[in-house]
Amino acid sequence: MTTQHQFGGDWTKRKLEALRKYLDAYMKIFTANEKAKSFHTVYVDAFAGTGYRTPTDSDEPSLFPELTEQDNQEFLKGSASIALEMDKPFKEYLFIEQKQSHVAALEHLKKQFPERRIQIKQGDANTILHTWIRETNWRCTRAVVFLDPYGMQVEWSLIEAIAKTEAIDLWLLFPLGVGVNRLLTKCAPPPPTFSDRLTRFFGTEEWRDRFYHRQKTIFDEEVEHKSATFDSIRDFFIERLETVFKAVAKNPLVLTNSRNNPIYLLCFAAGNPKGAPTALKIADHILSHQT
Ligand SMILES: C[S@@+](CC[C@H](N)C(=O)[O-])C[C@H]1O[C@@H](n2cnc3c(N)ncnc32)[C@H](O)[C@@H]1O
Repeated sequence: MTTQHQFGGDWTKRKLEALRKYLDAYMKIFTANEKAKSFHTVYVDAFAGTGYRTPTDSDEPSLFPELTEQDNQEFLKGSASIALEMDKPFKEYLFIEQKQSHVAALEHLKKQFPERRIQIKQGDANTILHTWIRETNWRCTRAVVFLDPYGMQVEWSLIEAIAKTEAIDLWLLFPLGVGVNRLLTKCAPPPPTFSDRLTRFFGTEEWRDRFYHRQKTIFDEEVEHKSATFDSIRDFFIERLETVFKAVAKNPLVLTNSRNNPIYLLCFAAGNPKGAPTALKIADHILSHQT
């Protein structure tokens, strides 16, 4: 029985390639530089999947990937495999995954890397990461956290907690077209369930003023219409990241589907005051050269 994890098209390849390049550059620094060498380095994959992905015809994520038996399916490496296979590995790996069958696949992957220190935790990424952040000694730890959800599962309080450590570099898949833009309803502001979700996601209600404009009708009634564009949503989110991180890439990677619609942005932010300028330079370079 093989646990298949079907998601992504070309955009997935671009996303994982950018991540791989960053992890390589990061560990080059943390194994070459004398001071950096003393840190305990951790790679955290908080929406870890199975370690592998099977290409699918659909280029948008399948929310209900199936468990099926199939032996001759092409398997491509997912983020967890990519991180484990690095020539210069992290001192520790933490994989978080909600789905039981994906956790089982990660346990199987772990067995293939007996020389790596790997922790796998099953549950909600937000909850587990808050605990991990609280329990980690940030004076001697440096980490790269990859948040790769299908949708809007990441809460702003988690992003804030990550930034507060001043020791984490964050790669985050921002659900531009598949999440935020869909919740921003056109002719009127979103209903309470959508609004609450957006507020928890952005950590503020300011999105409402930024993404809707008020107009008077000929009957002198006030109505609100969506004014948000993909660009204005991106700019707002980057501004939000800049309120908590030391450095934020202003050129996130735009990941589009086959109809060329933006579905996600791959964003980068660095939290360590000393390391942020170098981290940003590397991430900027990767993001602007990623084909
Ligand atoms: C896009 S996939 C991750 C792909 C993976 N990064 C890779 O490259 O192979 C998202 C994963 O997050 C898991 N997931 C969804 N909600 C979650 C949550 N709240 N906490 C942890 N994992 C979650 C899903 O089961 C799925 O495996």
